[in-house]
Amino acid sequence: MVLIGSDHAGFDLKEEIKKHLDEKGISFKDMGCFNKNSCDYPDIAKSVCKELLEKKEGKAILVCGTGVGMSIVANKFLDIRAVCASDFYSVCYSRLHNDSNVLCLGARVVGVGVALELVDVFLNTNFEGGRHEKRVLKIKDI
Ligand code: RB5
Repeated sequence: MVLIGSDHAGFDLKEEIKKHLDEKGISFKDMGCFNKNSCDYPDIAKSVCKELLEKKEGKAILVCGTGVGMSIVANKFLDIRAVCASDFYSVCYSRLHNDSNVLCLGARVVGVGVALELVDVFLNTNFEGGRHEKRVLKIKDI
């Protein structure tokens, strides 16, 4: 189950991502926003991250205008490792090396095609572990 949330700026891209997940048979929970009325990205990021941490496993996708606001909020939570990126390599290695568990996308930065590729690599790439394990644990210790 993938948790997904956006503010008004990310609403349309969130709808595209939901369609994409449906087509792939991947279950998700949309945690808002539910229309394009202006809302505040910290509220959405906070409720998505809290729920993700309560579940103790899984991943989430957050969409705002740039992805930056969502990632700033998400990375305030211990055990959330949010990646805000618009290129395949960064998202791929955020999974392999950093065990990222939240993908933040900028709807005003990437087109739908790129965004869906980023969603796929985020969901389908496994953490490599090994030498990266202790580094990720060091993040938690800070
Ligand atoms: C909303 O205008 C915009 O500030 C927001 O979506 C996001 O880009 C913040 O980081």
